Amino acid sequence: METPPAGAAPSTRASDPIGVFDSGVGGLSVLQALRAELPLERFVYLSDSGHAPYGEQDDAYVIRRSQAVTRYLVDHHRIKALVVACNTATAAAIQQLRQDFSDLPIIGIEPALKPAASQSQTKHIGVLATRVTLNSAKFRSLLQSLQGQAHFVIQPCDGLADAIERDDATKIAAGCAEFTRALGQFGKQPGELDTLVLGCTHYPFANDTLRALVGPSVVFLEGGVPVARQTQRLLAQHGWLAGPDVAASRGATGDDAGLLQLLTTGAPASLQAALQRWLKLSPEVQPVVIG
Ligand code: DGL
Repeated sequence: METPPAGAAPSTRASDPIGVFDSGVGGLSVLQALRAELPLERFVYLSDSGHAPYGEQDDAYVIRRSQAVTRYLVDHHRIKALVVACNTATAAAIQQLRQDFSDLPIIGIEPALKPAASQSQTKHIGVLATRVTLNSAKFRSLLQSLQGQAHFVIQPCDGLADAIERDDATKIAAGCAEFTRALGQFGKQPGELDTLVLGCTHYPFANDTLRALVGPSVVFLEGGVPVARQTQRLLAQHGWLAGPDVAASRGATGDDAGLLQLLTTGAPASLQAALQRWLKLSPEVQPVVIG
């Protein structure tokens, strides 16, 4: 696809929203990066918390939920692109989604192993993610592709995404302590882990707890910013970016409040609280049923 020449009429898709989904509130860490990178775009964020967590289910379940959520966003919100703001759903379902929705640009997220390998000094890297992500063929081949470049210590974090989802401080602290202890010694000396990959979009919301456990020198890597840049590139290739023309027509109708729409299959109050806590936003959250 080509980018339309400057001054060309806006594409009919440019004003359509970008769909973003996660099993719960974790994808808000990606949404934050998307909104910063693409301030003129409209977003529809869907939290599938009525069916979460995904990370300890089997692949078939995660595929089924991802298909249902995508179908809903396409049919009810006419999304022009989909961001799978969930490492688990990306690992288990993105291939199937790309087959099912072949006209829809779909951007996934994967644990930031590549950037970790290139920036780590000790070449010893800790990786926290869900069991589904770590057991996936996608993750194994990513790991394989970096063989010899760094030593990765992998830790499944059962229950941590759920504790973050529920904002259960006691469980978050206990999980973070257990999982970082299992990874080994953190630090800058040879053989120590100097980098921690947060391979689940929920984990950046436990940043402070993790930081207190591993110390100030450890570099944390997550995937939100690269995902936002990739979304920008893909939309530009399609000629579907919302430009100043789209923003101006929105401004004329006073539609700016509609830049972010929030949906949940779970309790609106918990998504609302997470938005307030982490993004300092208090928009309305609409409950939806997606069978
Ligand atoms: N936020 C999701 C991820 O990035 C997983 C949370 C869950 O287990 O549902 O993997």
